[in-house]
Amino acid sequence: MAKTALVTGGTRGIGKAISEMLQAKGYKVAANYGGNDAAAEAFAKETGIRVYKFDVADFDAVGAGLKAIETDIGPVDVLINNAGITRDAPFHKMTRDQWQQVIDVDLTSAFNVTRQVWDGMRERNWGRIVNISSINGQKGQFGQANYSAAKAGLIGFTKALAQEGAKKGITVNVVAPGYIDTEMVQAVPEKVLEGIIATIPVGRLGKAEEIASICAYLSSDEAAFITGATMTVNGAQYIAG
Ligand code: CAA
Repeated sequence: MAKTALVTGGTRGIGKAISEMLQAKGYKVAANYGGNDAAAEAFAKETGIRVYKFDVADFDAVGAGLKAIETDIGPVDVLINNAGITRDAPFHKMTRDQWQQVIDVDLTSAFNVTRQVWDGMRERNWGRIVNISSINGQKGQFGQANYSAAKAGLIGFTKALAQEGAKKGITVNVVAPGYIDTEMVQAVPEKVLEGIIATIPVGRLGKAEEIASICAYLSSDEAAFITGATMTVNGAQYIAG
């Protein structure tokens, strides 16, 4: 029977590509989103994928969202913790709000969603969890103390859960994208972005589909022996920097 996949932040950017690829691979997909109704409606119309609006930073809202998904489609077998925001500022200008929003949406969200699908995966002895980190969680980035901390946190979270899920057929992995051609990256000031692209040996931004394909592989039965891993998809930027 087709498995149910939930992609948080699944209607735009990298998440949209992941939702679409999982659908193409035969999963029943639920795409969560936080606020952009117009984009979500367009996405649902274009793909036929059901969309669910809830705030991944709010544990109770996540619980209600998961209940709706389970009723409509089924219990979540595959979870892609993709939702994320940036609030970039050099640390000497960073506010408490900028810190807290990024920690809540990019890191605590993974607890909020994973915790509420974990027991079901344990009971069914099967689960796939992919946490979308970032090259900037691996190497740190000027202007992203908040984001780098949250994305590095996801790597530790993954390594702990991989050990806990192993005997229950649940794999937990990280995909750490480099700079991908999405709205989030296009929001970086042009001059700054040009400088970043110059440090990517492949010589271009990545494509969202190039992240989606590794997520789809990690969500498959074939990937059962890959757990606790961090897959870097960055055009060799990290090793060259
Ligand atoms: N390294 C060293 N110094 C830097 C720097 C860098 N990367 N970037 C800026 N600086 C310096 C500037 O030269 C400047 O120095 P002076 O005061 O001596 O002139 C100082 O820092 C302050 O710079 P600004 O006045 O430009 O500061 P700002 O507050 O206007 O903006 C910034 C700073 C927000 C960090 C801006 O540089 C920026 O947006 N940088 C890009 C950050 C980034 O890469 N974000 C990734 C977003 S995409 C994403 O997150 C997806 C993913 O996972 C990859």
